[in-house]
Amino acid sequence: MVRGGMLVLGIESSCDETGAAVVRDGRYLLSNVVASQIEIHNRYGGVVPEVASRQQLAAILPVIETALEQAKCSWDEIDAVAATYGPGLAGALLVGLTVGKTLSLARDLPFLGVNHLEAHIYANWLRSGEDGSEQAESSRTYRQGDPQFPLICLVVSGAHSELVLVRDHGEYELLGHTRDDAAGEAFDKVSRILGLGYPGGPAIQKAAQEVEEKLEQQHKPLAVARSAYRLPRAWLRGTYDFSFSGLKTAMLHLAEGAAGSASGGSGVSSAGSADSRTTGSVTDTGTHKSVRAAASNQRKQVSQYTRMGAQAAQQGVANVPLLASSFEEANVHFLAVKTRLAAQEYHVRQVILAGGVAANASLRARLEKELSPLRVQLSYPPIEYCTDNAAMIAGAAFFHLSRGEQHTFALDVEPGLSLPFKR
Ligand code: KG4
Ligand code: ZN
Repeated sequence: MVRGGMLVLGIESSCDETGAAVVRDGRYLLSNVVASQIEIHNRYGGVVPEVASRQQLAAILPVIETALEQAKCSWDEIDAVAATYGPGLAGALLVGLTVGKTLSLARDLPFLGVNHLEAHIYANWLRSGEDGSEQAESSRTYRQGDPQFPLICLVVSGAHSELVLVRDHGEYELLGHTRDDAAGEAFDKVSRILGLGYPGGPAIQKAAQEVEEKLEQQHKPLAVARSAYRLPRAWLRGTYDFSFSGLKTAMLHLAEGAAGSASGGSGVSSAGSADSRTTGSVTDTGTHKSVRAAASNQRKQVSQYTRMGAQAAQQGVANVPLLASSFEEANVHFLAVKTRLAAQEYHVRQVILAGGVAANASLRARLEKELSPLRVQLSYPPIEYCTDNAAMIAGAAFFHLSRGEQHTFALDVEPGLSLPFKR
């Protein structure tokens, strides 16, 4: 079949997902194949880099073949090859980048290395279906067409939290960034504390939704769950920076309090009032425990948190769904308010979300509530394009390739790559 437009084969291998996709003109999906390693890493409570690169190696060629098959596309129709070159895990990146460069050399096609964070932003340009006709329910982008510049983009992934002013294609200004954990990292760590598994974002969202749906059925306000525990929010006033470590530590104290209560200490009770839960859990005992925990090595900490959270959950001494709902609310509220303030200061008419945490239903709803009175349009990709995928890599590549840019085979992986901000 001969098709118009530019067809890019995109390859993604920065972390625990192996992806290949064929995308036309940076927007229209012909195929998008993702092989996930989540089940393997779930056993360890997080991504193990060495395991990730080995899995990438095993999956990459079948994933690329499937992407071409599903796109019903021959090599002759492909106009360029693109692969992620950073940021991410060095070993995992190396697999996709090497395969991408090799294929472009073998097929005599232009090659482009793609910045994974920029690709998350360009997920907002993707539509479902070759002509955009298959609307994904969760996609606002499709209904609204291409995002309009200037815009504010909230990039929230497992390793990054950045508030960015995007004046035009490729013109990024950093407004704020996280001073400690990334938003997704906070979801992952808190999920581990609560014994909910990896990846944390979807697990916490599911636990929170369970209790929130029950409240809705009983015609009770969601605030019963969302403010069940009073959690700290580090506003860092006067900046657009984020901080999630205080929130994470408070969650740890709550879980420790719960574990303490199971052994007769002063802890969390699922029957107690919100206030008694909060005050009961943040005790001196909790603080000392956390200081001791901080002194032990990382590996021990992780298993200790997991055991404690799992224990508390099993014994029902901590109300894990209420904790999940309160944490999600604190995290999302903080992100949404900072984003709204940036939209107001820079007078933009559009805000877009990028990265795995953009899949979060509460974040989407909360931002909509913040932005709609200001008539600022909110867009986010369909859920499957928020988390890591290769469609966004092919999408972002198109906008560079169409400006005549391409890379030589000298391009190497850059695990610490950031967005190309203007100084
Ligand atoms: O963008 P991504 O797939 O990988 C990175 O580039 O880091 O983001 C993964 C992060 C994880 O921290 C995961 O817990 C989070 O995105 N995440 C979510 C949700 N789905 C994934 N966080 C909150 N709510 C979700 N529904
Ligand atoms: Zn990502």
